[in-house]
Formats: sequence, C-alpha cells, structure tokens
Amino acid sequence: MNSKADNIVEILVTQEAIEQRVAELGGEITAAYRDRLPLLVGVLKGCTLFMSDLVKLIDTPLEMDFISLVSYGSMTRPSGAARITKDLDCVIEGRDVLLVEGIIDTGMTAGYLLRNLEARQPRSIRVCTLLDKPARRIVKIPIAYRGFEIPDRFVVGYGLDFRQIYRNLPYIGVLSDKITGLDRNAATRHSHRDSGLTRPG
Ligand code: IMP
Ligand code: MG
Repeated sequence: MNSKADNIVEILVTQEAIEQRVAELGGEITAAYRDRLPLLVGVLKGCTLFMSDLVKLIDTPLEMDFISLVSYGSMTRPSGAARITKDLDCVIEGRDVLLVEGIIDTGMTAGYLLRNLEARQPRSIRVCTLLDKPARRIVKIPIAYRGFEIPDRFVVGYGLDFRQIYRNLPYIGVLSDKITGLDRNAATRHSHRDSGLTRPG
C-alpha cells in the first residue's frame, strides 16, 4: 500500500518546529496588527495548511481572502509571466493586507502579486512566508514574517506539492531526485518535464 511519505528522503522541518514557529509568527502578527482588522490574503494552494494554523494563533480580529494564479515557464526555467485565475473577493483599497505564501523561491510570483495588489492601493501590504529559499531569488521581495530559511532543495508537505501530491504531510520534507527529476546532474535527461504551466502554491 502506498504511504503519503513515499519517496521522502529527509525531513527538513519537523511538525514540532513548524508548530513552534507558527505560534511565534502569530504572536508577532498579533502585536503588529492589533485593532487594524488586517486582511490576510492566502496564495493558493501552498498557503492552505500554514494559513489555517497561523490564523488560529493570531489574537486580533482579521479577515481572510484567497488568490490563485498560474505562472508561465517551469520550475527550472521560470519566465516571470503570470495570470490570476481566481481573484480576491474583496476590495483591498485602504486595507492592511498581509500576503501569506507557503514558499518564496525565485520571488517572481510574490513580485507579480505585490505589483498587482499595490495597484489597488491598500493602506499597507506586507509578506509572510512559511519558507524562504533565497538561493534562487531573482526578484527581491521584502519579507516581513519568515518561518524558515531553507537551502536550495525541492521540498513538499504542509501545503506544498509536487504535481499536486504530498500537500498533506504534516512536516516539510525533501522529495527524492528520482521523483522530481531535478537532480542537477541529470537535468538534461529530464528536460521533457519542462513544459507549459506551473501552478504556484
Ligand atoms: P517563485 O519561484 O518564488 O515564484 O515560486 C513559485 C512557486 O513555485 C511557489 O509558490 C511554489 O508553489 C513553487 N515552489 C517553489 N519552490 C518549491 C519547492 O521547493 N517545493 C514546492 N513548490 C515550490
Ligand atoms: Mg506547486
């Protein structure tokens, strides 16, 4: 029988470490946004587990909304172009917005979203990400709340997927190169995977 942990070669961030860090972030966000009725904007789908745990640990009234987009290009060759496939339900003009991401890698997705959302004239906008993978950063992103900085490995779990699978792991794990085909030395052999759309989140 298959297990949800099949092909996980290493646990990078344990469930306990996530719980502790999310509680700390919740405390910081509570202090910063007290009495401001912040709007937390989750970037689907990678934000889902993080955001649902985080909001429970924020002790001030808040609202939640979600946005979804597709990026053009691939994991190994991101293009920077993106399109919103599910926009926010609410108007953010004059609001204190906190963008909640599962992971920031090249920064292209967050960069696109920040430009798009800033044009709607929120009162403030900040970024909160569970994971920060700075090694591949192309677009500089100001990160106000960061869970963990991680090395340049392809990770899954706690909302993050590989081809839509593995989101339901309660920890952040490293997926075998055999599965991702992202083994740098074998990159050319797997270049057929580099096609079309990647869905952030
Ligand atoms: P960006 O490169 O910062 O634009 O990130 C684009 C998207 O790629 C993220 O929102 C994630 O959905 C996905 N991504 C980047 N690195 C990883 C990873 O290690 N595991 C799973 N998804 C990732
Ligand atoms: Mg994904």
